[in-house]
Amino acid sequence: MTNSVYIHIPFCANICTYCSFCKFFYNEKMVSDYLNSLEREILDTYKGETLQTLYIGGGTPSSLTLDELKRLFEILKVFKLSDTCEFTIEVNPENIDLDKLKLFKENKVNRLSMGVESTLKNNLEYLGRCHDFNLVKEKINLIKSVGITNINVDLIYALKNQSLKDLETDINNILSLDITHISTYSLMIEEHTKLYIKKETNISEELDYLMYNLIRNKLKEHGFNHYEVSNFSKTGYESKHNLVYWNNEHYYGFGLSASSYIKNVRKTNTSSFNDYLKGNYVKEKEILNEKDILSYALILGFRKITGINKQEFLDKYKVDILSLYNIKDLIKEKKLVNDLDNIYISYDKIYIENSILINFVGD
Ligand SMILES: C[S@@+](CC[C@H](N)C(=O)[O-])C[C@H]1O[C@@H](n2cnc3c(N)ncnc32)[C@H](O)[C@@H]1O
Ligand code: SF4
Repeated sequence: MTNSVYIHIPFCANICTYCSFCKFFYNEKMVSDYLNSLEREILDTYKGETLQTLYIGGGTPSSLTLDELKRLFEILKVFKLSDTCEFTIEVNPENIDLDKLKLFKENKVNRLSMGVESTLKNNLEYLGRCHDFNLVKEKINLIKSVGITNINVDLIYALKNQSLKDLETDINNILSLDITHISTYSLMIEEHTKLYIKKETNISEELDYLMYNLIRNKLKEHGFNHYEVSNFSKTGYESKHNLVYWNNEHYYGFGLSASSYIKNVRKTNTSSFNDYLKGNYVKEKEILNEKDILSYALILGFRKITGINKQEFLDKYKVDILSLYNIKDLIKEKKLVNDLDNIYISYDKIYIENSILINFVGD
């Protein structure tokens, strides 16, 4: 069953220096054409399942005007939402306001994700962000005032000239917002971004590692559960939508560059605006065999700090996880921990997680 939907809104009012996501400068005509094509794609594909999670990401969904957002919600009316559906929208501090928030609330949005990234002026300038921490505080209070209390904030660390002290200030400021979820990302200098063109480089691995430890220790001290490599939440506020990905469950992806996983097919949509408007939605299709499905299940499942439940794995895939790849060796090497119920990456090895996950790629 497919009970989750991701929708990509590829417009931003400002383009950040580090961002390689599929996005365009906001343009009224483009938004109108895009929403028409998005509606066609959804109507052509969605089979009427009841959704447990709906996630509108970007880009910056909140860069759309109130009328454009109303049109978006009209399109979304086709989806059947379960009573407990987690419905998330990504927003940026500078373009979210009370009218948009009231519209979200009326349309059953119950979770917001805000790109805060840093709370310090020099970092925000480096990242090309156009907000400050006062605006963030104001907008978080506004969000709470309409009754949406499940709020995620994104933080980027490992920035040029950033000290551990600076990072600690960012963490303290973010904790002061009294929110339910925090996603933290080490800065990646991606091709085709302003930082890449300016030949900016990453900080040292040693400092990056210290920063990762600072984040996880501090957030844990403040009652956040570290439940995925980059994600922390108050108990009960884990992102249900992202857990669909990590649990290798099925989901629809609509919009430019969106991915979907349904039955044994993973698809990625085109990033070409013109192709998308013409209705040529899909760019790549990967048909998975049994081995591929298991490989995805391991690579995604081990991103969770509690790893993979052995019995659930057996029930779902009809195979003993301990018989796969070199899992037994990795347990002997103490890279994986095999407890009564679960297998997971040893907590002190999470930082080198990718070097462990590579064992489960291909044959
Ligand atoms: C889809 S993006 C956009 C969300 C929203 N438009 C915003 O900017 O706040 C989600 C998050 O990915 C993270 N991110 C994007 N590019 C990154 C990069 N190059 N390195 C590290 N984190 C990145 C940022 O924290 C960002 O908020
Ligand atoms: S980080 Fe967010 S706001 Fe900035 S360019 Fe990327 S999608 Fe747009």
